[in-house]
Amino acid sequence: MPATIVLGAQWGDEGKGRVTDQFAQHSDFVVRYQGGNNAGHTIVIGNERFALSLIPSGVMYPHVTPVIGPGCVVDPRVLIDEMRTLSERGIDPSKLRISSNAHLIMPYHRKLDPIMERYLGSQQIGTTKKGIGPAYTDKYARQGIRVQDLFDPKIFREKLDQVLRDKNKVLTRVYNQLPMDPDQVEEEVLGLAPLLLPHVADVSYLLWEAHRQGKRILFEGAQGTLLDVDHGTYPFVTSSNPTAGGALIGSGIGPTAIDRVVGVSKAYISRVGTGPFPTELHDESGETMVRIGGEYGTVTGRRRRCGWLDLVALRYAARINGLTDLFLTKLDVLSSFETIRICDGYTSLGETYREFPRQQRVLYNCTPIYEDLPGWQKDLASIREYHDLPKEAQRYVEHIEERIGVPIRWISVGPQRGALVERP
Ligand code: IMP
Repeated sequence: MPATIVLGAQWGDEGKGRVTDQFAQHSDFVVRYQGGNNAGHTIVIGNERFALSLIPSGVMYPHVTPVIGPGCVVDPRVLIDEMRTLSERGIDPSKLRISSNAHLIMPYHRKLDPIMERYLGSQQIGTTKKGIGPAYTDKYARQGIRVQDLFDPKIFREKLDQVLRDKNKVLTRVYNQLPMDPDQVEEEVLGLAPLLLPHVADVSYLLWEAHRQGKRILFEGAQGTLLDVDHGTYPFVTSSNPTAGGALIGSGIGPTAIDRVVGVSKAYISRVGTGPFPTELHDESGETMVRIGGEYGTVTGRRRRCGWLDLVALRYAARINGLTDLFLTKLDVLSSFETIRICDGYTSLGETYREFPRQQRVLYNCTPIYEDLPGWQKDLASIREYHDLPKEAQRYVEHIEERIGVPIRWISVGPQRGALVERP
């Protein structure tokens, strides 16, 4: 798989960290292409649990060059902290490459995110409050400060003074806050620059060169398809493009380079933050998924909302991303259920939908159409061959595959690195 995109096919938290960790062993480069430290990837190695938020999961392998692409937003403080923590735990982050075009999450973005959320009241998005939305807002308003500006303190200060004039007006007059001091902002950000500069690179060129030499490149999506700013459940989305198109824009590689697009989906579905969620469960079954699946956010610790697998949404993800394969995670979490429900359509306002509705109001008012499949009620943790899975589990997998029209090549049956069934 010379150039593969791995992305979330749901609302994020599908277990992509584990998947990219799995694929990274056979990769030379692992590239983050959007988002920032709103992502949280958990990797379990032996008894150790690593939570990464910004650095690509490939950093765990010494032979991999981890790359942060131009489509990402980088909080220098968080990045330095993450590099330091990894070093202290014996993982060497020195090969990390950061695009000079990536935008910086500045202290005023961090300050504005929670304040803006508070002002939204009942309309809150439920953001991770890491400054992601405000940083992307400035990028598109052409007021952003980029990684390359760290090279030139004079230009950095000019840009900072200009943008902070605006921000301070917003902070003081709109949100009734104290203004921020440009000297302090400069000191915080430029103070970290010497630690970042050795890692800064022309990522697009680096990847082009690598691709020409036949190196294996893995593009690691953060969040998920339904959180995409263009294709997700707007405005309850993140501010970037986790979908496959985002991998091209956010890394600077052409579409013809991509060989494979792997969608990661849980065997059920979850969401953090607010927004529509047709199959959400408010009963004991939902609680069981949270408890057994450990459904609490890596970044914010928030309890995730859980529900039965939604095939309407998954078909949509397969279409938007041009998925070539599916990686089904956490099948073991469903092992305790006697019956497993699966949604293959919605009824809403008197109509039936088999495809993802184009009007969001339909999603708010819909009732899922469920099919019931028998559960297996057996422990799957030690199974490594597909034919050893209980017949009911195989039927569940094949049912999804049939309805989505994309092969399920991998099935995870536990959180450990090797707890995986790979199909030929
Ligand atoms: P933001 O990305 O912090 O602006 O948050 C926007 C929306 O995306 C909120 O609903 C968040 O809960 C959600 N979100 C952001 N990052 C993740 C993630 O890594 N997993 C799941 N949801 C996320």
